[in-house]
Amino acid sequence: MAVRPVLPVAAIVLAAVALGAAAVWTRTPFVPEERVAHRPIQAAADGYVSSTACKACHPAQYATWYGSYHRTMTQVATPETVVADFDGVVVDDVHGDPMRLERRGGEFWAEFNDPGAEGPESERPRITRRVVMITGSHHQQIYWYATGHERALNVLPGVYLIADGRWAPRSAVVLHPPNQAVSTVNGHWNAVCIACHTTFPRTRFDTPFLSEPIEQQAVDTMTGEFGIACEACHGPGAEHVQAHRNPLQRYALYLGDRPDPTIVQPARLDPNRSSQVCGQCHSVWEFYDADGERRANSDGLPYRPGDELRDTRFMPQPMAQRDSPALAAFVERDPAFVTGSFWSDGMIRVSGREYNGLIDSPCYKDATEAARTLSCYSCHTMHKTPDDPRPIAEWAATHQVSAGKDGNDACLACHDLPEDGVTEHTRHAADSSGSACYNCHMPYTSYGLLKAIRSHTISSPSVAESVQTGRPNACNLCHVDRTLAWTGAALQEWYGQPLPPLSADERSVSAALLWAMKGDAGQRALAAFALGWAPAQEASGTSWMAPYLAELLNDPYEAVRYIAYRSLRTVPGHAGLQYDYVAGREARVAAALPVLQAWQQRASQRTRRDPALLVADDGQLMVDRMMGILRQRDNRPLFLRE
Ligand code: HEC
Ligand code: HEC
Ligand code: HEC
Ligand code: HEC
Ligand code: HEC
Ligand code: HEC
Ligand code: HEC
Ligand code: HEC
Repeated sequence: MAVRPVLPVAAIVLAAVALGAAAVWTRTPFVPEERVAHRPIQAAADGYVSSTACKACHPAQYATWYGSYHRTMTQVATPETVVADFDGVVVDDVHGDPMRLERRGGEFWAEFNDPGAEGPESERPRITRRVVMITGSHHQQIYWYATGHERALNVLPGVYLIADGRWAPRSAVVLHPPNQAVSTVNGHWNAVCIACHTTFPRTRFDTPFLSEPIEQQAVDTMTGEFGIACEACHGPGAEHVQAHRNPLQRYALYLGDRPDPTIVQPARLDPNRSSQVCGQCHSVWEFYDADGERRANSDGLPYRPGDELRDTRFMPQPMAQRDSPALAAFVERDPAFVTGSFWSDGMIRVSGREYNGLIDSPCYKDATEAARTLSCYSCHTMHKTPDDPRPIAEWAATHQVSAGKDGNDACLACHDLPEDGVTEHTRHAADSSGSACYNCHMPYTSYGLLKAIRSHTISSPSVAESVQTGRPNACNLCHVDRTLAWTGAALQEWYGQPLPPLSADERSVSAALLWAMKGDAGQRALAAFALGWAPAQEASGTSWMAPYLAELLNDPYEAVRYIAYRSLRTVPGHAGLQYDYVAGREARVAAALPVLQAWQQRASQRTRRDPALLVADDGQLMVDRMMGILRQRDNRPLFLRE
């Protein structure tokens, strides 16, 4: 999508000078938080005192948290926090007519079709609103504008992709059926996103969301603090601060190694409750009933770190509770409640829901003693430790994985392997990517944020599971050039796993290519990701990949196209490929065709001729066979609730 300046360069320079002068006039005056009326505000209450109160006594923990993406998840829009350029920019191709962006001094404004209005996107009234809040600072920035009705927010029709430095329509950053609108209503942030993106959220509507038009009710949304701050994980801190402020009291309270009763240290909680501190946000959950939602809307979510999360929330666990009547009731109300988030065997398949994965893992559910129970803290730390030499930014960028837990030690802390090391178990050389526990037991089978992420359900590679659920197995996500039959034979020989019955395609064509060509949109996204994954490229070669990734540049799902393009650029010879994943079909075909043609032209020099990759003896692509498989694509609409 083109992001074009409205004016020729010279005019922009002049306009900038003029704006600069105007900025002196329009500079936003400082308004104390409690007097801000057009957006949600931060207000201390119920013992929540904010991170500022912790800084002086815990400078090290404060500094590591400050450098984490948790802190910047929700921010007020200011020149320091907004990543995208708003200065006289026009963004085409969003929902409805182009979105026009503008800086007014320190403020951010946009003109666009009102997403909160009724009717088709292109016919909705044009509105001009001030952007006041932001979601995200890591992969994406979503911008929220003041609707004009009290503190209710709604979302701009375009989202900014940070790494790409580009705008994309809101619907093109989530995996959802093409031609199905991604709806948004006034008050969306206040009612939904607030729960997992802030500390001590209080929606404060008169009635449950969507039960009455929002314009007819009070919207007095408040949080303890924007972003995920100290008290989201440690609980309200007033009593603790009070207790430690007085040196004598502090002496009287001296606890040695015992937990401090005035504050929660999550890693010290019992194994069930410790990871629930993370699970309050990193999970799929629902209110038990409308009454629970109503109370949470007015008083804030009742869960506090240290509580049992299930006391106040419904946590679906379809893998363990296949026949739960409670779950069936939710599915009856919302048919996609399970299928939008879980594989058919009940394993979680979306990102940001790692707690669901953890509690289904054998290392959690089959553990018999606290010391051997897996928790989020077995592998992650929320405060980089002093002995960890990495800069804070590097630790944050590598998902806050604890020092030394990015490799096999994460598992070997609890699992002994035979004397002669890992090879006897993994059957790969010790230094091979095929000997990394994570690669076989936590493969990239969850989807979210336009990428694949590691499954947080610890499981073992199994061809039978791939056949039954469609979930790619770890072996074929690295050996992307091999068939299911090949993997099945190795699993049988090495681990004694029985080989399940396979179809003709499954016996003769690479499994990754089958997922890429005839899987559902979620499988196609995972396969497209795997083809760009460095260990898979090393194990399987890249010379055969271009035609398949080029084909996916025209997938009906935008998210699949995006990932295919990113992977294709890592294949030698395609780094500079120009392509826009939200452009019209013709433009996309025009970008993909030369890739295919160039590949076909090199047929005679091709050394890798392999029927499993549909490369014939003459080096040419077996186009008819490919078309036959493509025609079997699973086109059932899929909306993954990442
Ligand atoms: C006036 C100083 C002071 C302030 C302010 C303060 N703390 Fe503490 N905190 C301490 C001291 C001293 C300890 C260690 C003593 C103890 O509890 O064993 C401690 C311990 C802790 C612990 C570890 C508890 C445990 O059981 O291991 C956590 C977590 C903690 N503080 C979080 C916070 C948070 C969050 C805030 C802000 C809301 C905060 N602290 C504000 C002085 C302070
Ligand atoms: C059930 C809790 C929950 C709710 C509700 C929720 N999110 Fe999130 N969100 C998360 C978690 C957890 C992550 C981190 C995922 C990751 O990094 O893998 C996240 C990450 C994100 C990111 C990526 C941030 C970045 O910096 O790149 C965006 C964007 C986002 N959410 C948007 C939304 C929007 C918009 C809403 C409301 C419509 C929403 N989320 C509601 C839990 C939630
Ligand atoms: C996302 C959750 C989270 C946030 C946000 C968070 N912490 Fe923690 N904190 C933890 C966990 C978990 C531990 C246990 C050790 C670890 O995992 O790093 C911890 C440990 C601590 C400790 C005890 C360290 C020890 O040696 O026992 C203190 C003190 C602390 N945090 C203070 C803070 C302060 C102050 C902030 C905000 C500036 C903060 N935390 C933000 C999760 C969090
Ligand atoms: C109040 C909600 C909330 C709580 C509590 C919370 N998280 Fe998060 N977490 C999020 C959101 C939202 C993000 C997305 C931030 C981003 O990447 O921009 C996130 C990001 C992360 C990331 C970084 C993801 C990445 O892509 O690098 C990790 C790791 C993580 N959380 C682990 C934890 C753990 C472990 C705990 C418990 C100690 C925890 N979180 C508690 C909401 C929460
Ligand atoms: C905190 C300790 C702990 C950690 C860390 C841990 N596990 Fe486990 N794991 C267990 C326990 C306890 C069990 C269940 C009882 C048993 O089999 O010993 C288990 C079971 C398993 C099983 C199933 C065993 C079976 O017979 O079905 C697999 C596979 C497994 N773990 C793999 C891993 C991998 C791979 C990692 C690292 C990514 C890992 N574990 C990390 C404690 C842990
Ligand atoms: C056995 C180790 C292990 C455990 C236990 C674990 N994680 Fe992770 N997690 C990892 C590793 C390793 C990564 C980085 C994966 C990668 O490099 O792509 C990761 C990545 C993440 C991410 C970022 C995903 C992304 O790419 O966007 C989040 C969020 C996260 N973990 C949250 C959690 C939460 C919450 C828990 C507890 C419910 C948890 N993790 C438990 C090892 C673990
Ligand atoms: C090449 C893939 C691969 C790698 C790498 C791998 N495993 Fe496994 N692992 C498997 C398979 C396959 C099984 C299932 C065997 C079966 O069907 O019983 C398994 C089973 C297990 C089990 C269950 C008990 C058992 O021995 O059957 C544990 C525990 C385990 N692995 C731990 C680890 C640890 C720890 C590492 C890293 C040092 C690791 N694995 C690396 C493939 C792998
Ligand atoms: C993350 C990548 C990765 C994963 C996962 C992986 N392998 Fe490998 N595999 C390799 C690499 C690299 C080699 C090359 C030799 C080596 O490094 O040991 C290899 C070699 C092999 C070979 C021998 C060489 C060949 O191509 O015939 C077999 C057989 C094999 N792997 C089977 C498996 C099976 C079965 C699994 C799942 C249980 C698996 N691999 C998982 C990377 C992987």
